[in-house]
Amino acid sequence: MANKILVTGATGTVGSATVKALSSLGAEVRAGVRSLIKGDNLKRLPGVETVELNFSRPENLAVAFTGVGAVFLITPFAQDQVEMAQKLIDAAKGAGVKHVVRLSVIGADAEPSIQIGRWHRQAEEYLKASGLPYTLLRPGGFMQNFVNQYATTIKENNVFYQPNGEGRAGYIDVRDIGAVAAHILMNPSEHAGLAYTLTGPQALSGHEVAEIFTTVLGRPIHYKDIPEDAARTAMQQQGLPDWMTESLLELSAITRAGYTSGLTSTVQEMLGREPHTFQQFVEAHKDCF
Ligand SMILES: NC(=O)c1ccc[n+]([C@@H]2O[C@H](COP(=O)([O-])OP(=O)(O)OC[C@H]3O[C@@H](n4cnc5c(N)ncnc54)[C@H](OP(=O)(O)O)[C@@H]3O)[C@@H](O)[C@H]2O)c1
Repeated sequence: MANKILVTGATGTVGSATVKALSSLGAEVRAGVRSLIKGDNLKRLPGVETVELNFSRPENLAVAFTGVGAVFLITPFAQDQVEMAQKLIDAAKGAGVKHVVRLSVIGADAEPSIQIGRWHRQAEEYLKASGLPYTLLRPGGFMQNFVNQYATTIKENNVFYQPNGEGRAGYIDVRDIGAVAAHILMNPSEHAGLAYTLTGPQALSGHEVAEIFTTVLGRPIHYKDIPEDAARTAMQQQGLPDWMTESLLELSAITRAGYTSGLTSTVQEMLGREPHTFQQFVEAHKDCF
């Protein structure tokens, strides 16, 4: 019987949060992982099995999708993410999957959008055209980006640098994205054909984020707004490819311009509880900073 819920990119930030949320709801979960060794921790959760799922290996796709009822389709921030998503949608269709929940991005439906949004829109359109029942999740910037991108400078120098000016963002904790995704995947037919924009509870500027870090960590943490050119040079020095540097700078440009400050109440409406605050996020990850 096709009752398994497959999560692709399951070792990633959103994927692992979703696998945990599904496991706690008693789901039968198949965690699609590029490396079985890396997926070892997930396998220890109740109801979770892992399957090798490298998107460039067609033989992996066929096995991973067998017996799957619903899939949470996560692809990485990569230049070929649209092709990856298309391959996965084709595989889902071929295997007779009944519902696809797609991790997209806030503003994917906006015209003309930025590169990240346009890539996601292409994947969304391919999914819609596939005829598969679908739900789209469009989250704002992740709070967990601060662990992945700024933990070192915060820990070592009590500062984080962003070319975001005084722009605000409705950062969301990926634990809430995972909980919403799990909620939908357990009852997908109720959410068929719908798109949900997900944000956290507050739109925060860099200085407000720094104040929260200061309060929780008990030492002064500073936000430094830097010019776009300085951010470009820093990213180039870190070895980021040009496409990634320019995509991230576009994101900062729309943040500076005030386009990322909108909030939604979707998490509260869907889960019946408030989304995590930035303060709760920092408290949960104190050791990283
Ligand atoms: N960061 C944000 O603020 C933000 C906001 C809105 C939307 N998004 C969207 O969220 C998505 C990224 O989610 P995330 O942050 O959870 O990603 P992530 O942490 O970077 O994880 C990516 C996952 O994809 C896997 N993966 C990468 N290449 C693969 C391949 N060729 N075959 C199989 N698996 C592969 C990775 O496996 P390994 O662990 O083996 O590398 C990992 O499990 C992107 O679509 C992004 O646009 C991000």
